[in-house]
Amino acid sequence: MSAYQTILLVAAMEQESRPLKESLGFRPAATSSRFAVPFSRFETDLGGARLIMSLNGKDRRYGNENVGLEMAALNTYDAIHAYSPDLVINFGTAGAFKDKGAEVGRVFLSKDRFFFHDHRIPLSGYEDYGRGYLPGLDVEAFAQTLSLPTGIVSSGSSLDFTDRDLEEIHRNGATLKEMEAAGIAWSCYLTGTPFFAIKSVTNLVDKTVSSANEFEKNFSLAVESLTSTTRTVLEAIVRGELPGK
Ligand code: ADE
Repeated sequence: MSAYQTILLVAAMEQESRPLKESLGFRPAATSSRFAVPFSRFETDLGGARLIMSLNGKDRRYGNENVGLEMAALNTYDAIHAYSPDLVINFGTAGAFKDKGAEVGRVFLSKDRFFFHDHRIPLSGYEDYGRGYLPGLDVEAFAQTLSLPTGIVSSGSSLDFTDRDLEEIHRNGATLKEMEAAGIAWSCYLTGTPFFAIKSVTNLVDKTVSSANEFEKNFSLAVESLTSTTRTVLEAIVRGELPGK
């Protein structure tokens, strides 16, 4: 039996999560909040476990999806309070480095630390805090049993990057660059909830000039592999293949 009976899945974009929602038969979940928060929640059962999916929702002013660190952290913190999950998983897309073995559509599991690449605080005692070093679950052995690669995830607030961002991403040892995981890791760290991420590559940061063009061109392909791998990972977890914390 799995040590993880309630699993919270966090995603930023509706388009990233819809195929998984449909394939696992998620239905709307009851939510109660004193505030008109935009998070949308769904639930289903898989192999005796309860799966909750919580999306960041849309921005009321612009109508776009709430991508980014702040909304990912808020959504996760609120959902942890509402559902008390045993495990949080962030599934989504990322930019990545071909030099580190990435290909468009390849899916990685996260390593056990999460970083920021644009929180630069060069003050004594603040540098590592700014960089994050937020804990994640060590899923290395589990990834090996599923023949999945792992990589360090570095998060920031921009889809593109500056030379300084790139320097910091390399310093973090990252294979994957995205906009949510470290924010989610922060909420999980505060609440003592085990966390890891599943990231599918939309663009090769070291090979293509425009992250935005590549993101749009490769999004469907990346979501297809994200969906099937996330399903495989969840099925293995509910079979008890991911050791308890
Ligand atoms: N999501 C997908 N591709 C990304 C990139 N290059 N940077 C940040 N987030 C992403």
